[in-house]
Amino acid sequence: MATGTPKTQRALIQEVYAQPPVVKKIDIPTATPGSAVVRIIASGIISYMKDVYDGTRQYPYPTPMIPGTSAIGRIAALGADATTLNIGDLVFVDCVIRGRDDPGSIFILGLHEGHTDGSRRLMHGEWRHGTFAEYAKIPIENCDRLDEKVLLGSIADGGLNYLPRQLTEIGHMLVPYGGLRDINLQPGQTVIVAPATGGFGGAAVQVALAMGARVIAMGRDASKLKEVSNKMAPLSHRGMLETLPISGIVESDVKALQKFQPIDAFFDISPGAAINSSHFKAAILSLRHEGRVSLMGGYKDDIPIPHSKIMHANIRLQGTWMCTRDDIKQLIKLIERGVLRLDNSQTKEFTLESWEEAFAFAKTSNIPAVFIP
Ligand SMILES: NC(=O)c1ccc[n+]([C@@H]2O[C@H](COP(=O)([O-])OP(=O)(O)OC[C@H]3O[C@@H](n4cnc5c(N)ncnc54)[C@H](OP(=O)(O)O)[C@@H]3O)[C@@H](O)[C@H]2O)c1
Repeated sequence: MATGTPKTQRALIQEVYAQPPVVKKIDIPTATPGSAVVRIIASGIISYMKDVYDGTRQYPYPTPMIPGTSAIGRIAALGADATTLNIGDLVFVDCVIRGRDDPGSIFILGLHEGHTDGSRRLMHGEWRHGTFAEYAKIPIENCDRLDEKVLLGSIADGGLNYLPRQLTEIGHMLVPYGGLRDINLQPGQTVIVAPATGGFGGAAVQVALAMGARVIAMGRDASKLKEVSNKMAPLSHRGMLETLPISGIVESDVKALQKFQPIDAFFDISPGAAINSSHFKAAILSLRHEGRVSLMGGYKDDIPIPHSKIMHANIRLQGTWMCTRDDIKQLIKLIERGVLRLDNSQTKEFTLESWEEAFAFAKTSNIPAVFIP
């Protein structure tokens, strides 16, 4: 443990599923082989966390549990088998935990126990707790060292001058990056992102632009679409971002998409509530021959697909849950090289004690919310 580390910490704990969490004083975990203890600097709050932790979304996870997913922190203690990480390193904490003896056993730290017996075993056991705490025990392979000289250094010193809390946006951006890489989005191609006005939807717009694509951002709320394009304006993507309202009528959406042909790809990041939205069918019908579809939306029920178009136009449908470890390494490089910029990322900070206000803010604002424990 780093010198001067206390023995106890504050953590937000949910004792009973769907019941309000409380801030408690608990022991700081011990680093065991294969793990690191990370002092959390900032932990991102997902827009729909309120609905997850109050039971509305019915995400399966065990309690008691410390909620919280991806975060930025510093290594405070390390298992004896660490080879490259060092105490004090600035790291991105990746919330996608995989079984070491079965990489298909995946769960999301502090959020969702996954879909296999193995993933449930991991989350109910060794990796029970997330990052809404001063310290968190994390699998060592989920700690990605960040080049702090580059990321936090001043412009005068050749750095990017980011604040650590701005780096929590990595967690948002990784999700669409995983899906967009899976459909092999290339510079110069055109991709529809829909809906583009949510937390992960907005991140998808920024990531696709940084990958060199032209983006058609679709959403049902014109004022929120305007906010998306205002947010991208400082990054000067010179005419590569178009916005288009979701009309609610498939034929109208298809007609409106005509002027952007040829369209190479469609990235769907709908919540379950958008199951009847016109954009889904319209976007697939608007794809060119051999177009690709990334299915990252959270539909709970089955959704109809335009089968004839998919078959006759050789359309590829690709599902993706979260992202791979290689995606993380690549995305961090894009940020460290200044290709994917975070200088348009404001954040709103909250203490653990103000969790209720924080979850409410995240649900209604397009400014990313973070806990600073
Ligand atoms: N595959 C994965 O790995 C993965 C990872 C993260 C999230 N997800 C899924 O992605 C979903 C979206 O994430 P997010 O962060 O963008 O969510 P969010 O911040 O809650 O935003 C929801 C988005 O959906 C739009 N929307 C809501 N109801 C709609 C409707 N009836 N018709 C059309 N659009 C509608 C909203 O538009 P308005 O602005 O008009 O309200 C907004 O753009 C999540 O619910 C989750 O299930 C998947």
